[in-house]
Amino acid sequence: MSDSTTGVVPGAGPTGGSTARPTASTAPVAAPAERATLRLREAPAPGAPHPDDPPRYAPEWLRLREPADGAARAHDLLGPLRAHLAERTPPTGGLVVHDLGCGTGSMGRWLAPRLDGAQHWVLHDRDPYLLHFAAAGAPRSAADGGHVTVETLRGDLARLTPDALSGADLVTASALLDVLTAEEIGTLAAACAAAGCAALLTLSVAGRVELDPAHPLDAEIAEAFNDHQRRTGLLGPDAVTAAGEAFAAHGVSVRAHPSPWRLGPDEAPLTAQWLRGWVGAAVEQRPELRSRAEAYLDERLAACADGTLRVVVHHTDLLALPRPTGGTP
Ligand SMILES: C[S@@+](CC[C@H](N)C(=O)[O-])C[C@H]1O[C@@H](n2cnc3c(N)ncnc32)[C@H](O)[C@@H]1O
Repeated sequence: MSDSTTGVVPGAGPTGGSTARPTASTAPVAAPAERATLRLREAPAPGAPHPDDPPRYAPEWLRLREPADGAARAHDLLGPLRAHLAERTPPTGGLVVHDLGCGTGSMGRWLAPRLDGAQHWVLHDRDPYLLHFAAAGAPRSAADGGHVTVETLRGDLARLTPDALSGADLVTASALLDVLTAEEIGTLAAACAAAGCAALLTLSVAGRVELDPAHPLDAEIAEAFNDHQRRTGLLGPDAVTAAGEAFAAHGVSVRAHPSPWRLGPDEAPLTAQWLRGWVGAAVEQRPELRSRAEAYLDERLAACADGTLRVVVHHTDLLALPRPTGGTP
């Protein structure tokens, strides 16, 4: 195991010291049995990541959210995607799919069995620890039984070269766009356009959350959380608009579809983890919220535990399809 894995906290979401940049769908979390105490900016333990390190995502968190992610992704975008892929000249070795920010490989496990034909997936992430899990849990077969192979590629999307995606039929990402900068999204759109490939970019946070029953502090926490997401130049809830514009600037046709998490009593462990991260980030952004937020979190976790809390976390999926050469979409 490489040294760079030492910063990952089992059971936690993105880590990486006080600069960790959680999102509504990628919230940092505490162990489920832990009390609803907000612990922020603790002194780093020996061997802990440097505060300037990029945030790390614990595989336990990605596993916890995988069923909700699968239920949330927009099935309505699959028809147009399949039709587009079927129209391409049949590739000799099957479809080539690049999954960016693959984490433990949840997107491939969801999508590969929903597409026909042999597929080769290239799984990209900057975290070698997560790539190890992605390779071990890779999908094996397509919808029609076609063979699925994978390779992993470690690297930072900030350094994606214009030709990095050449030969790709499809680029995918899940829960990624909102943790990128405008420049990174521009680079991604340019690389997809240069490759002439489709892109299915799922589960970007929309910046809206609904909790039932409602609470007077909901809106203030949500606003502080959204500000927290944007504070280091990342796009957070602005990512979908930015990506739509970046792809459209290359003449690519873009469709958006809602893909909300709908969390009820059956998803209580995920809801509790998400709540801790959502409220914790809000307090990190606005420390004056702390005492009210602690009481709020206690109340919300109690409702979550007794099955009376329902949460909708809004996301958006984007499908970008190159226009047929010389024609209309
Ligand atoms: C919220 S996780 C989502 C993981 C996975 N797509 C899923 O849906 O479970 C974001 C992933 O993107 C990766 N990531 C974030 N920024 C990145 C960058 N600039 N370059 C490469 N990987 C990045 C993280 O390491 C992490 O695995």
